[in-house]
Amino acid sequence: MGSDVTPEPAGDAPGAGPTTAIALRILLVCATRHGSTVEVAEAVAEELRACGDEVDQRPAAEAPGPAGYDAVVVGGPMIMGWHRQATKYIKQHRRDLEGLPTALFITAASLTETGETDVQGVPIFKDPWLAKAPRDAARLSRKERYAMPQHYLGDVLKKAAPLRPRRVAFFAGSLDLTTMNILEKLFVLLVVGATPGDGRNWKAIREWGAGLDEVLRA
Ligand SMILES: Cc1cc2nc3c(=O)[nH]c(=O)nc-3n(C[C@H](O)[C@H](O)[C@H](O)COP(=O)(O)O)c2cc1C
Repeated sequence: MGSDVTPEPAGDAPGAGPTTAIALRILLVCATRHGSTVEVAEAVAEELRACGDEVDQRPAAEAPGPAGYDAVVVGGPMIMGWHRQATKYIKQHRRDLEGLPTALFITAASLTETGETDVQGVPIFKDPWLAKAPRDAARLSRKERYAMPQHYLGDVLKKAAPLRPRRVAFFAGSLDLTTMNILEKLFVLLVVGATPGDGRNWKAIREWGAGLDEVLRA
């Protein structure tokens, strides 16, 4: 026969062994143009769930506000600037997000590696499959200047102010020229300097996702 006395949670009781952290309720908001960033978001969500967190993944266009969540992660691709729905979400909710642990991830086709570890004090992770050293660090080309982390993220941080994300990751994305019109092709090839193909680095994405729980709890 079972006991009808409900056991106390083992949590913080003295001598009860290691403390189990309470699950965070995380809202993961994702924007996409062609779908590949949603798969990146799914991998990040899986890693957070593996840490015991509850993750509610929503498309940026229909995502709820952050009320009721313990932390928020917003992801989206660079599409001539960070995807407008991701930007709109953080702009619209920046006052509420300011009081919550928040992290961002950006998928892109090009990123110039000039050695920085933060943008305006916000720590950044640069996927090594994406970040490329410039030909001549003393004289960056127009494409290299365009693809600098501070160029991509500076604009996002300006729109997000006073929100300060705890971490921002830049991941290599996936670029399929067959889905693009002629102007888009010209832009990504001539301005961005992108190489078509699926460059997603799942190891880097999952490692970043696995470390995110600790960052959001800190
Ligand atoms: C119209 C267009 C504009 C883009 N602009 C940029 C850009 O400015 N910088 C960059 O690094 N990548 C740029 N990209 C590449 C995308 O960020 C990359 O392909 C991303 O993985 C797409 O994600 P999605 O499949 O979720 O839409 C652009 C792609 C498209 C189609």
